Amino acid sequence: MSDDTNEPFPWKIRPFKKADHDRSAFDCGVPSLNDWLKNKMSQWEKKGFSRTLVLVKDGERAVRGYYALSPHTVLHEALTEDQGKGLPMVDVPVVLIGRLAVDQTLQGQAFGRDLLLHALRRIYRLSLAMGVRAVEVDAIDDSAVRFYRAYGFEPLADQPRKLYLPIPVVRTLFESGAKPRSPRRSAVP
Ligand SMILES: CC(C)(COP(=O)(O)OP(=O)(O)OC[C@H]1O[C@@H](n2cnc3c(N)ncnc32)[C@H](O)[C@@H]1OP(=O)(O)O)[C@@H](O)C(=O)NCCC(=O)NCCS
Repeated sequence: MSDDTNEPFPWKIRPFKKADHDRSAFDCGVPSLNDWLKNKMSQWEKKGFSRTLVLVKDGERAVRGYYALSPHTVLHEALTEDQGKGLPMVDVPVVLIGRLAVDQTLQGQAFGRDLLLHALRRIYRLSLAMGVRAVEVDAIDDSAVRFYRAYGFEPLADQPRKLYLPIPVVRTLFESGAKPRSPRRSAVP
């Protein structure tokens, strides 16, 4: 399974590299997400706190979307009864999609979906190599909650903006054929 499967041709989703990517004009409409990308992300990369993947058009340097992944744990008591069913009574190893955003000029054109599916595929691959029970996201507002819930994420107990998706559900998502939006724009043959 290639990491590139959810790339929306002629766009690419690649690990951020300072020499190759220009973040200066990025604007997703949420100041804290813009600020993190421009002013904090490099430190997080250097210190090993997160890895950031960026959306760029083939042949261009401008970053038009991004997501960031970090290892995380969810306290067992933060799970709902359903989420905790059958699990050991210990904190749960997860991968956190701490941030995901698309430049305002491209919103509503399925790039958010492509970034999310790309992230989920990457996390699924990781779960084959090490213990990862679920994906966690921190939704920035209620609108972002609705975006993630459309893909099966469910809130943790008493934390409406912290959402959780078990790896078996991620596997089902790919087995049921979740792909980039249209074959015409897809990098997948
Ligand atoms: C949220 C965000 C990432 C969505 O990206 P996008 O490219 O605009 O969304 P897409 O075009 O890929 O939409 C994918 C699906 O989600 C739905 N969707 C998108 N934004 C939504 C929202 N705010 N509320 C509910 N549903 C939403 C779309 O209708 C679409 O559904 P469909 O596949 O059934 O047609 C983007 O709008 C953004 O960057 N917003 C600002 C930052 C942010 O809120 N980040 C998320 C939390 S950290």
